[in-house]
Amino acid sequence: MKTLLASIVVAVGVLGSGAAIASADLANANCGKCHEMDKKKKGPSYKAIAAKYKGREADALKAADPKADHPEFKAKDEDVRAIVKWILAQ
Ligand code: HEC
Repeated sequence: MKTLLASIVVAVGVLGSGAAIASADLANANCGKCHEMDKKKKGPSYKAIAAKYKGREADALKAADPKADHPEFKAKDEDVRAIVKWILAQ
């Protein structure tokens, strides 16, 4: 039983960090042309976005919507959701 529990904990840890890395890659691939971690490019830095939208994921998603005021980009909705979650954790 103890080993089973330990394996579950390890598995969850591995999955969790895997997802975080995937989101950083996703962010760079889809948003990196205009956003960077801690420097303003065409758009504000991820850190600035995280500070502004802390605890307001829905608002951040709206602000990143190319159908509203945000510049055009090609990314799947589900990817944008994952990226915004990742940005807000920076
Ligand atoms: C073609 C350039 C470009 C790409 C690609 C891009 N952005 Fe932006 N983004 C901008 C600009 C420019 C602004 C500032 C818009 C403004 O101030 O009205 C911005 C603003 C934002 C904001 C709101 C910041 C604020 O202070 O309100 C969020 C959130 C955001 N982007 C997320 C994303 C995400 C997530 C992606 C990738 C899926 C992405 N952006 C891709 C140019 C881009």
